[in-house]
Formats: sequence, structure tokens, C-alpha cells
Amino acid sequence: MVFQAVIPKMSTAPSINHEYILTYAKIRRQEHRRLKDENFDVWFRLSSFAFYPIPLNEKRYSNPDNDDRGNWKADPFDAPNIRKNLTYIIKNPQTGVEFLPPTGRCWRTDEKKFKKLLSDNRIIFGTNGKSRPQLKVFYEEKKMLGEVETTWYEGNNKGTVTEATKELQKNFEKKIFSTPKPIRLIKSLLRIATNSDDIILDSFAGSGTTAHAVLDLNARDGGNRNFILIECEDYADNITAERIRRVIKGVPGAKDKKLKQGLGGGFSFYNLGAAIDMDEMLEGKNLPSYKDLAGYVFFTATGEKIKISQIDKKNYYIGSAKGIEIFLMYEPNKEKLKKLALNLDFAEKIAAKFPRNKKLIFSLATFLDEWSLSEFNIDFAQIPYAIYRYVE
Ligand SMILES: C[S@@+](CC[C@H](N)C(=O)[O-])C[C@H]1O[C@@H](n2cnc3c(N)ncnc32)[C@H](O)[C@@H]1O
Repeated sequence: MVFQAVIPKMSTAPSINHEYILTYAKIRRQEHRRLKDENFDVWFRLSSFAFYPIPLNEKRYSNPDNDDRGNWKADPFDAPNIRKNLTYIIKNPQTGVEFLPPTGRCWRTDEKKFKKLLSDNRIIFGTNGKSRPQLKVFYEEKKMLGEVETTWYEGNNKGTVTEATKELQKNFEKKIFSTPKPIRLIKSLLRIATNSDDIILDSFAGSGTTAHAVLDLNARDGGNRNFILIECEDYADNITAERIRRVIKGVPGAKDKKLKQGLGGGFSFYNLGAAIDMDEMLEGKNLPSYKDLAGYVFFTATGEKIKISQIDKKNYYIGSAKGIEIFLMYEPNKEKLKKLALNLDFAEKIAAKFPRNKKLIFSLATFLDEWSLSEFNIDFAQIPYAIYRYVE
């Protein structure tokens, strides 16, 4: 798409006022891309990606001949390509003037279907009745199918960066971000590209327009879209997340009633910890803290967040999940780490403490054989290799 980011004021040189919106799909739909009467069933069943149509523009439909079927618009009756069965003479019944399709084109239907359309008062010959044939397209019959979006995203329809700056100012009372995108723009993209229960990822969150647009759309159409936003700058909390907090609760100065009341919804805010590089760990470099590694292995094994208060580092205990007691034998110190391994003493100690439960132990090494491990009801997971989902 081409997005008209700025509506230029007076300028002496051509103003660069557009930005590109690129679209990628994992599996792009190759056929039945456009929703039509003929493919209505199959269109919704296919899992490949196709853009949803946009609502018909009702303003383009009217009813000058008081047709019982309601408002309609006139579409050309010719179509691209030359096809023999779609090339025939159409005679204007009022004037007797004969028409062939324009050069290089054909009619939309074969002659038999055309005659049916004509007798059903679905063909007109211009507003004066003397021109080429046109097809009456009825609003009521087409509204389910909508119409295709175009690549031209005009500022007046989709909003501009200027509008977005003002929207943001309403949330923060001052200018705080230089290139925000308008909510209308992101909402338009969400409408044509997502289902009402999709998860929307924006890994360049900036001022958080994406989350605002998701919440706004959910509040209006009853959708249940979720969002994941990522922002690497230090304003992630006080601009990106803060904006979302405010639109959820309500923005006092907003003109829009819904925004003023608050769009509702919720989210969690996380700070990314230091990266844990398992290969470096083997070499004793950049060793993560005990808590960081404990949180990582615990989450990977159980899918649950570790409870920091349960960590008992002295006994290498990091918590339990679904009846399994979990241990991490680890020291963020190269020399200590080299000497650390699961041994008989430790196995006996924890077997005495948790005689019935299964025990999962993360450690760099073990001195116990398979038989002893199973005697103690211990599963041994060697870090950094054996870190995977353990508890289902
Ligand atoms: C142009 S802004 C996005 C504007 C946003 N659409 C809005 O309406 O506010 C791009 C944002 O991506 C962030 N960013 C750039 N590289 C990043 C990265 N690797 N991880 C996370 N955020 C990143 C920048 O800090 C900046 O805030």
C-alpha cells in the first residue's frame, strides 16, 4: 500500500508525503482471493491468507428507477480478455443500436445469462437509456461480499502522521514522539488482515498505536484480538505502555466517547532480562545469575513463571509444578561450576525430603547411573543441552 502520511501545505518543491506499507504472508492464497457469490463457502474455509474485503461504500448506491430491490449502482458490463462465448452483439431494446464489447474485451456473461439479466431488469443502457449496456449491482445483494481494498491509503480516510501526533498529544498533553502512525491507519490494516481473535505482534511499538488500535477495534466490534508489543528504547514503560494504560482507563480530553470512557482490556508489562547464551555458558563466559537461569529453565520445563520466593539457592531448589520438585545445581562462577555435579549425597538428601514426588534436576553433570536415578525417582536434565518442555 502507499500511505499518504502527510497532506502537504504550500511548498515550493514536490513534497515527499507518502510511505510504503509492505505485506508478507506465510501462505498467500493463490485462488479464490476475492470473496464472491460463487466462492462464498470455500473462501471462509481456506486457511491460506487473503485480505478481507472492506464494507461497501453505501453512498455510491442509489435508486433512480425505484427498483423494489433497493439501491444499486451501475457497473460496466464488459470485462478483460477476448472470449468467443462472451463476444456477441447486444441490441439496445429501446433504440435498436447494436453494441459489441470494446476492443480487446468481452462481455461479463454469455448471451443466455445476459438475456436473463435483461428480462430481470438488471441491465441498463446508461442514465438516458441510449448508451452501452451496464449491470445493475444491488447493495443488499453485495453487502455481504464487501469490496476489495485498494493500495491507495489516502490521508483523509486513513489519517496522517499529523493526525497521529495530535492523537498522542491528547494522551500526554504534549508532543512526545515524532513519527507515530494514526489509529485509523492501523485499524484499517487490522480489519483487512486479521480475524477477531487473532494475536497482533508489533515488534517496533514506538508510541503504542498498534495496541491502541487493537483495543479500539475490539471495543467497537466486540472482537477479542490480543497484542504483543516490543520496544527497545527506555520509553517502553513511560510512553508505549503508559499510552495503553491511559486508553484502557479513559482519556479525559478525548472527543471520542468510547476513548473518554476508556476502551477496556488489559496487558502485562515485562522487562527483558539479560540474554542467556548456553554456548558461552559451557565456556564459563557471561554466566547468568542463579535467579535468571532458574527462571529460564523453570519456565521452559513447566510453561509456568517461577515463584522467586520459593527459590532456595542453598539447596538448589527452584520450585514445584504439577507434583514435580525442580532443582538447579548451578553457580555463576566458573571454578565452582566445574566442581558441581549431582552426586549420591545430594540425591539421598532430596529423596529423604521428597520421598514420593518425582524430582527434576538441572545440572551440568551427574555421577549417578540410570539405575540409581530411577531408584531415587530423579530425572536428570543436563544443562545446557536438555532444556525443553518437561511438564505437560
Ligand atoms: C517508527 S517507530 C514506530 C512508530 C509506531 N508505529 C507508532 O505509531 O508509534 C519504530 C520504533 O521501533 C523501535 N525499535 C527499533 N528497533 C527495535 C528493536 N530491535 N526492537 C524493539 N524495538 C525497536 C524504535 O525505538 C521506535 O520506537
